[in-house]
Amino acid sequence: MIENDYLDRIELAAKYISNVCSNFASIIPSICIVLGSGLAPLASMCEVVTSIPYSDIPGFPQVTVPGHEGRLILGKLSGKDVFLMSGRFHYYEGNDYKACTFYVRVLASLGVSSLFLTNAAGGLLKDMEPADLMVISDHLSFNCDSPLRGENLSKFGPRFPDQTNVYDKDYVKLLHECAQELSIRVHNGVYSYSKGPQYETPAEIYALKQLGVGAVGMSTVPEAIVASHCGMKVAAVSCITNLAAGISLNPISHNEVLENASKASSNSCALVKKFIERI
Ligand code: HPA
Repeated sequence: MIENDYLDRIELAAKYISNVCSNFASIIPSICIVLGSGLAPLASMCEVVTSIPYSDIPGFPQVTVPGHEGRLILGKLSGKDVFLMSGRFHYYEGNDYKACTFYVRVLASLGVSSLFLTNAAGGLLKDMEPADLMVISDHLSFNCDSPLRGENLSKFGPRFPDQTNVYDKDYVKLLHECAQELSIRVHNGVYSYSKGPQYETPAEIYALKQLGVGAVGMSTVPEAIVASHCGMKVAAVSCITNLAAGISLNPISHNEVLENASKASSNSCALVKKFIERI
């Protein structure tokens, strides 16, 4: 059966990672941080114990986005054991949602209980400026087919999972406390998923604004849904790399996204580091 094959592949990948890690450490970290655009420098702030290319992990899709590296790092950050996912899998690259979220279930199988998702996003809130950060408190997944579609993997979670607390409320509070301690300007808001790769139209952004959306982006939601299905605690932060379409006076370009992600990177890395220190 297809689902058995999928479970076997999850087990195989988890075993592979666990074997590699056991050569270097006796502990599997309880948290994994997914490095979105601008967060790559976090890898150099971390004491790297070992690093596994995704191409070596059975079942992992390949990363095709320039600037997304494609390796799982086992390391220490703020004195704590962490996994870093340097590079993630997007639907717009041609992956289906099961492939995009495969790694989340692999991590859950390894015993990882918290997932910290970071991303680049377009900003919709009135007082947002490029290179600001937004703590994600909830999401809209209207554009996202459920990554849980198909036979339920009851080993991980229930058929009809509650979505009231996808983003852990204590983590949201802690992220705001950390930002305040560091004097970093952060917003709080709802993230809306876009399939991409095209950015949104001004009409789409206008509609999302009426719905109370704070930021839009092309990742995070499928992973957050699967992580919460697995019972993982989720934290998520958007780096506002541009004002969303129609709010920005200029057309959106990938260069602008990369530039502002890099401008925000010292704040976003400091926030993640402080958060890890405090949990
Ligand atoms: N829309 C969707 N995804 C994005 C954007 C945006 O404006 N900026 C960075 N990622």
